Amino acid sequence: MEETIPPKQAGNLQDYEAALKEFTWSSVDKEFDWSKGGAYNVAREAIDRHAQNWRKNKIALYSITATNEVRKYTFGELSELTGRFASGLEKLGAVKGDRIFVFLDRTSELYIAMIGITKMGGISGPLFSALGPEAVKDRALDSSARFFITSPYLYKRLEPVLDDLVDVEKFIIVGDNEGLGEKTVKFEEVIGSGDPNYQAVNMAPTDPYIIHYTSGSTGKPKGVLLGHKSMIQQWYTSRYVLDLREEDTYWCTADPGWVTGTSYGIFGPWFLGTTLISYEGRFDARTWYSIIQNYGVTVWYTAPTALRMLMRAGDDLVREFNFSKLRHVCSVGEPLNAEVVRWGMRVLDRRIHDTWWQTETGAQLICNYPCMAIKPGSMGRPIPGVIAAVVDENGVEVPPKKEGFLALRPGWPSMMLGIWRNTSRFKEYFRVPGWYIAGDQAYKDEDGYFWFLGRADDVIKTSGERLGPFEVESALIEHPAVAEAGVIGKPDELRGEIVKAFITLRPEHKPSEQLKEDISKFVKTRLAYYAYPREIEFVDSLPKTRSGKIMRRVLKAKELGQPLGDLSTLED
Ligand code: WT7
Repeated sequence: MEETIPPKQAGNLQDYEAALKEFTWSSVDKEFDWSKGGAYNVAREAIDRHAQNWRKNKIALYSITATNEVRKYTFGELSELTGRFASGLEKLGAVKGDRIFVFLDRTSELYIAMIGITKMGGISGPLFSALGPEAVKDRALDSSARFFITSPYLYKRLEPVLDDLVDVEKFIIVGDNEGLGEKTVKFEEVIGSGDPNYQAVNMAPTDPYIIHYTSGSTGKPKGVLLGHKSMIQQWYTSRYVLDLREEDTYWCTADPGWVTGTSYGIFGPWFLGTTLISYEGRFDARTWYSIIQNYGVTVWYTAPTALRMLMRAGDDLVREFNFSKLRHVCSVGEPLNAEVVRWGMRVLDRRIHDTWWQTETGAQLICNYPCMAIKPGSMGRPIPGVIAAVVDENGVEVPPKKEGFLALRPGWPSMMLGIWRNTSRFKEYFRVPGWYIAGDQAYKDEDGYFWFLGRADDVIKTSGERLGPFEVESALIEHPAVAEAGVIGKPDELRGEIVKAFITLRPEHKPSEQLKEDISKFVKTRLAYYAYPREIEFVDSLPKTRSGKIMRRVLKAKELGQPLGDLSTLED
């Protein structure tokens, strides 16, 4: 018999089947202030509306620093601080539609900046603080960002590329800006100059509020634009997938540099007035468990690699803690192995609810719900209001259990508005008439549950971070010893995949362990700390098509000992 884990108790969503029949997106409208005449703006709905009711003194954010200090903010305080910041930005010359980058560690200023930017109609561009200078430069140039909010040490990391950041007018520095140059101004001063009663600007549903850079199989990372109307789906899923309730303390472990960390690390839960936990430090099993216990986390949204690392830390460690408050656990970002779900049952005595979505989808789409049986290894079923299917290249649905492309009927509220300055890339998602093609391969079973099989393209997922082989290859060939490089994702038990690079060297260079290390270091500082190849293999030549394109498919098949497939286009 098929393995299923029955529901413990129904949550906010009582009956999935009934919701499928009855639910309409317009029914969510009444949950927002704008339906009663307020300004249409995600920042207003996330913060200001709560500051005008009894939640004014409710804790909105516990921001835990890397050294375990805690800073607390109420909705009232955040409303004032973000209003000041929005107004201070305007005084610096920022206008609606400006791209404003936030390059910060996970500190409270990051949250204040993100909400402040959206309040004045700016498009916030959160950048993961592990990005190297070249990666930041690419994003800043692509989007013509006008302002940066950053910290002294991250500003210094940008020094090699500062002269290239021609569109940036001001760097707003959290901390001391002494000696950092005339383009910098202190965050504190911007806050100080601003109006605490600033009102959020009225936006159109299709105005973007955020730009998230994400990788594809070709070219450099692209800017995915999400619109203010995303709030409709983010509200709905925060309520019915994350199952958030008034009394909850919620921890999303994702960094706001990625979409999980904004859609569900900032906006979705705050639309519901939820108390958030944010932790600046790095992963550490004991610290993570302590946070869940000591803050009484009730709802926890995390990722498979983190869960696998916790599994590795051992069952005994778990027994040192009391998780009695923890009610609901969700996961996203990579395939959640059935084994991890079983571990959750055995050791945490909790069901782990997998959720599937993408940067481009803006919010969760295929999920497991408290009221529904979980099939370990399955991503679950589409949220009410969304049609998902597995189709062939003509858009025809394939029968149950047959592999195909994971596809969605376009038009869900949080669907990306576009790709910044790249309409042709945007159109590619809709190349099969009537469908949005996600880039994943999947199948659907007889009960309508979706199962992930792999990417349909070369995109790599390492520890849940999305990477394009092309960007890694481009960084590699800038290293003086590297002639050519081909990059693949190699399956890895802990990280899902690791980056593996096949490299041919320039004539005067010899393979060595030292060189491998040097090349890894080079990629780390150029792209991001997580983007370096954990495995490097020096080869004499790379398989290429007659037109000179590296055949990553062949590299991967060879690595995995699989059949090489059609080699008719191979050079020799
Ligand atoms: C890709 C999107 C939006 C959340 C963070 C990731 C993979 C995501 C799952 C899952 C298997 C998953 C897919 C997807 N992915 N969730 N539950 N099971 N794979 O967003 O960085 O834009 O990546 O992550 O391949 O297409 P992202």
